[in-house]
Amino acid sequence: MLADKHILLIIGGGIAAFKSLDLIRRLRERGAQVTPVLTRAGEEFVTPLSVSALAGKKVFRDLFDLGDEAEMGHIQLSRVADLVVVAPATADLMAKMAQGLANDLASTLLLATDTPVMIAPAMNVRMWDHPATQRNLKTLQGDGITVVGPNKGDMACGEHGPGRMAEPMEIVAAIEAQFAAGPLRGKRILVTSGPTHEPIDPVRYIANRSSGAQGAAIGQALAALGAEVIFVTGPADVPPPAGVAVVAVQTAQHMLEAVQSALPVDAGIFAAAVADWRVEGASDRKLKKSKDGLPVLEFAENPDILKTVSRMETGRPPLVVGFAAETNDVLDHATAKRERKGCDWILANDVSPETGIMGGSENAVILITDEGAEDWPRMSKEAVAEALASRVAQALETK
Ligand code: CTP
Repeated sequence: MLADKHILLIIGGGIAAFKSLDLIRRLRERGAQVTPVLTRAGEEFVTPLSVSALAGKKVFRDLFDLGDEAEMGHIQLSRVADLVVVAPATADLMAKMAQGLANDLASTLLLATDTPVMIAPAMNVRMWDHPATQRNLKTLQGDGITVVGPNKGDMACGEHGPGRMAEPMEIVAAIEAQFAAGPLRGKRILVTSGPTHEPIDPVRYIANRSSGAQGAAIGQALAALGAEVIFVTGPADVPPPAGVAVVAVQTAQHMLEAVQSALPVDAGIFAAAVADWRVEGASDRKLKKSKDGLPVLEFAENPDILKTVSRMETGRPPLVVGFAAETNDVLDHATAKRERKGCDWILANDVSPETGIMGGSENAVILITDEGAEDWPRMSKEAVAEALASRVAQALETK
């Protein structure tokens, strides 16, 4: 929650400015006060009226507005907030910040402020990749500015790649993490959770019994220790935890894409029960009963998300944790699985029906690391999550 937190939100001029309207709403829902600043270019994309209506406050636009100066000078405006957020941060705004220019209200506030600053860059992929922008990015990171995103994906300009502004909830999660005190403060952690649904036709799918409870508890426990959590979830029974950035997916292939676009992260926890197979050539029409016999489904192998990330040559998260759901010879299978997948830790559990673990409220796990296997007593999924989160915090301290 962000009760009593005061955010100065600078909206730059990019197509992603429309997402900042949702960001204002989400921040206010969580109790934050939002003072909006709109750049000249920003006004081309969203109107001052909609920004101020959503913020419930006047929007500041001019450096030399006599009325504004009489009410609250720009120096004071830059200092009243607990956090300054620039979203979208355009290539131009980033360049101004990196150079220390102060030729409009936004850049002047950013130069005059002594409060922490977070930026959510958004721009065309070539602009993002340009050495000038990458140089500015390094300068800003070196100045202690927190950077959220950008994400990879299709862009409004028709190109594909990094440059899309982070989603409003990802920015909210980063803001919440910024204010959370705890050993994981400043760490970005990815969690996969829930089952995946693999379509047979538009109305039928193949799934598994995962409720998503363990993954949700892990997301919650990590956020409670101050982590910025990117929570990539299949269609789970339990709701996602509060204070995390939720990316909802259906299939294993979508989950892999979402995971890849969330990177880089400090740690990845792969708690999802991903379907190993999908139906090859799923029908785009409902399959009908036929006199010619029963339908025959052909399967194709899904990508192994945990293995893909564990074996990344560049950009592999410093800590990768997998789960092993087994029904027999748990320790042997899980130890072999850790080797096969290439992850750092495996949390192994026995999901035979008689344990009641899959879909239940408790879990009994064995943590397998480089140093061997540790049997944890049976406990609630929340307690497992808290124990894991504090182990992750210890491990990241030394990374
Ligand atoms: N996993 C994954 N992508 C897949 C399959 C599994 O990321 N396509 C991850 C799970 O999130 C979990 C771990 O791999 O962290 C092990 O999942 P599990 O279902 O136990 O293992 P499988 O890979 O299915 O291996 P097996 O068929 O031998 O049980």
